[in-house]
Amino acid sequence: MKIIKLFVFLLLSILSFSCTPNYMVANSPDEKLIVEVSVDDKGAPWYSVTWAGEPIIKKSYLGFELKDQPAMINNFEIVGEIRNTMNQTWEQPWGENKKVLDHHNELTVNLREKDGLKRKMNLVFRVFNNGVGFRYEFPEQDNLKEFVIMDEKTQFQLSNNHDTWWIWADYDTYEKLYNHTDVDSASWVATPVTFQTKENYFISLHEAALTDYAGMTLKLSDDKKYTYESALVPWANGDKVRTTAPSKTPWRTIQVGRQASDLVNSNMIINLNEPNKIEDTSWIKPMQYLGIWWEFHIGTKEWKEGPRQGATTEEAKKYIDFAAKHNIGGVVVEGWNSGWDKWGEKDAFDHITPAKGYDLEAVAKYANDNNVALIMHNETGGDIPSYEKYMDEAFNLYEKLGINALKTGYAGGIFPRGEHHHGQFMVNHYRKVVEEAAKHKIMLDAHEPIKPTGIRRTWPNMMTREGVRGMEWNGWSDGNPPNHTLILPFTRMLGGPLDYTPGIFDVKYENSPNRVAWNTTAEIMNEARVHTTLVKQMALSIILYSPLQMASDLVENYEKHLDAFKFLSSSTADWDESKMLAGEIGEYAITARRTGDEWFIGAATDEKGRAVSINLDFLEPNKVYKAIIYTDAQGTTYLNNPKNYEIVEKNVTSNETMLIQMNAGGGEAIHFQVLQ
Ligand code: NOJ
Ligand code: CA
Repeated sequence: MKIIKLFVFLLLSILSFSCTPNYMVANSPDEKLIVEVSVDDKGAPWYSVTWAGEPIIKKSYLGFELKDQPAMINNFEIVGEIRNTMNQTWEQPWGENKKVLDHHNELTVNLREKDGLKRKMNLVFRVFNNGVGFRYEFPEQDNLKEFVIMDEKTQFQLSNNHDTWWIWADYDTYEKLYNHTDVDSASWVATPVTFQTKENYFISLHEAALTDYAGMTLKLSDDKKYTYESALVPWANGDKVRTTAPSKTPWRTIQVGRQASDLVNSNMIINLNEPNKIEDTSWIKPMQYLGIWWEFHIGTKEWKEGPRQGATTEEAKKYIDFAAKHNIGGVVVEGWNSGWDKWGEKDAFDHITPAKGYDLEAVAKYANDNNVALIMHNETGGDIPSYEKYMDEAFNLYEKLGINALKTGYAGGIFPRGEHHHGQFMVNHYRKVVEEAAKHKIMLDAHEPIKPTGIRRTWPNMMTREGVRGMEWNGWSDGNPPNHTLILPFTRMLGGPLDYTPGIFDVKYENSPNRVAWNTTAEIMNEARVHTTLVKQMALSIILYSPLQMASDLVENYEKHLDAFKFLSSSTADWDESKMLAGEIGEYAITARRTGDEWFIGAATDEKGRAVSINLDFLEPNKVYKAIIYTDAQGTTYLNNPKNYEIVEKNVTSNETMLIQMNAGGGEAIHFQVLQ
């Protein structure tokens, strides 16, 4: 017996000695998703991911090129490991879901160079049932202190030439239409980027917790098939990331799903962010909002002072009155300040001095008296030094006036010239604004932002952001085709909420005949329109989640359709529960969201009409609900009488199915209320 025990002991010792140091495995809690990590014979670290036996990421290398230092790409050995498990449900102050489950296994692999500088680097993997995040850590050490990353060499080797939905990588904008090609043609992409495999698996690559680092784009490798490599957005001088150990990179994320909607219903990106840092969140209140905004884009008004000025005291009060009457939380007023005549120049904007004809104090008081939040607007034109100089004074003023929401904008090239919207310089600027705003109890909506990576968990005053080709493009360009908003939930929105600003009812601008082209030709302006039906706009306010959700049309246009507007005003920007019930990328989406015991559904389709049957089993059993169904009128499509709709009511229960009828470029919006 003793001999057998000794033998087993020796065998285990040999096994652990020969297996653990060079090769490690981490499983998801359900053991279906498996990450392997190792170093090859040159000491180059690599990882791979399989899911239910399917190769998701094949052997992919990891590492860095540094400035004035040897690269950290090979010569490593594994010198240790740490394992942890998390299984916890946490509550969000606001969001698509009140409760979020974070269930994952964590593996930290400690690497050290075998000789030379003996620098240390950790790889941390968090393996969830529906994806994996990994990051690099640079621990405190003697031979790596202040350093500059010139290139991150993270690879993502896909298994095949998958279908890919992507936008071109760009250092300054995400306001682009999506392409749908195979991997081979998607040579340099922004994230999130989404794939469908031949076996009908869905995969999305992105990043989480992008903090004090450059934004990552993905470039196809020249010599390794179907392999993306991280390409970081540079500083003006070509540096990618300036850092000092101890430091860590954002998480590189790989989400997986059996259906496209699984990607949408995942919480992995926010789970990979640090918990909330704002103690008292009582002032953070999601809301729907209206604004003096669309008139600029369709060219009936101007931002700058003068005869066509949009922001006047009277106009602002009109919007506040409408908001108060129809249960809309806020009103944004663009053009309220001076400087718009100098847009594009250095030091153009003044975020403290109101425009002539706009009495800021009076409007702020009127908004407060009417219980409507006045949302300030700071267009910076990309002039960061000037904005950072006056930010504190401006935020003090807003706080004093009882204002706690702000839309920022970075339309234009960044000052100092050569810096990019998506580089480390701007990542740090955007974060500085979030932290400053939190000190003044201000919620933020950033336009021309860095992409969302879930920092709303850590800074829940970072409500929403653009970073998408939004509604404004329909005002003055050939616009967004009907499938655009059906690609966004499966791509851009995997990063987080978006301020797309849906809700245009007058989709062909028939009520606004005197439009003046302001950034394009009169011909393009005259052809411009929204390529949807009116009902699809209502549906999009549910599908395209934003905690500050705009109803973007002019109040005059809403006055003409108050019965349809009722859907928007009974809805909310903060949900207890959300799920995409059905959807295919770029084709259609049906999303259900719950607030209290009421449910709202947004269903929308591309340029094809379709009918999809859904199960109502998300409703509570043994209750009868009244379903108020807003649907495109018969024969209505985005090309034919797009503003015609019908409102139908019927009683339903959870054990029924419902046929959702979506006309071409249209959809349905449904409000379920408990009857008994
Ligand atoms: C671009 C923003 O996306 C838009 O919402 C805003 O009206 C203009 N810039 C002006 O700031
Ligand atoms: Ca924009």
